[in-house]
Amino acid sequence: NLKSKAQAAQEVKDEEKLYRYKGVLYPRILCPEENLKALESVEAREDDILLAAYPKCGFNWMEGVLTKIMAAGMGKQPQTLKPPLLEFFGPDMIKVLDQAASPRLLGLHLHPDNIPASFYTKKTKMVVVFRNPKDTAVSYFHFSNGNPVLPSQSWETFYPQFLSGDVPWGSYFDHALAWDKKIDDPSVLIVTYEELKQDLSEGVRQISSFLGFSLTDAQIQKISEDSTFKAMKETSASSHGPLGNVFFRKGEVGDWKNHFTAEQSQEMDRAFSKQLAGTRLGARLHY
Ligand code: A3P
Repeated sequence: NLKSKAQAAQEVKDEEKLYRYKGVLYPRILCPEENLKALESVEAREDDILLAAYPKCGFNWMEGVLTKIMAAGMGKQPQTLKPPLLEFFGPDMIKVLDQAASPRLLGLHLHPDNIPASFYTKKTKMVVVFRNPKDTAVSYFHFSNGNPVLPSQSWETFYPQFLSGDVPWGSYFDHALAWDKKIDDPSVLIVTYEELKQDLSEGVRQISSFLGFSLTDAQIQKISEDSTFKAMKETSASSHGPLGNVFFRKGEVGDWKNHFTAEQSQEMDRAFSKQLAGTRLGARLHY
């Protein structure tokens, strides 16, 4: 289980915590190569709901929102799968997935091109959450230092790795570009962290209708109130165990201003323009 993996991680040297699979870094303890290989054979279902997000873009926030939307829409709690990410399921746990009742809420951090093919052939609905690159980098930096399965490092070391995509799950920019290409796919709904922060009820409404649930205004209101950062942080010890505070850290837009130097900020702006200028997703990632 995840707790014993966290304990095992204490014994592993920082430089051994990550490894490469098909050119991309992954945390060795949680996503060994056998897991990533086993994933390729996962059988998607038409009524699955797949939450896909680059790390630190708001996965856990959305997981909470989606669980609540499904519970309200179905009139009963959905069966939530632990561990939260498909990448953490090993070959002998894949059968747990096969046995799970529909509709399954599944999640992953994988690049869209690496999502098992059956999710595309079955036209599984995918909810994608994205976030501006500067806050994502800062959140990733703190997470890396707070989570024993990832290496601890200074901002000066982490920042250039993030910029060049040499971090677990690969380049932020590659993921953003690839999702931008799917922005008109009727099976894909892309929401952004910044839009959700600005108007969570509207986000909940949009996601519910994308998933085919017609919720009342009162249900939407209640889900939004229970999904604020404050509400989720308060319950994080029971929902996420000892790493609760690491997953629910600050929950703001603009914390990057407390970390980036002026030069780093300009450098990231240039990288952003070079790679995402003119994309519709890029235009929505405000910072
Ligand atoms: P910070 O580190 O900037 O606080 P992920 O779940 O993908 O790992 O993303 C984690 C980020 O989402 C963290 O950002 C966390 O605080 C933020 N977050 C989690 N729940 C949130 C909520 N309900 N509202 C706003 N931000 C939230």
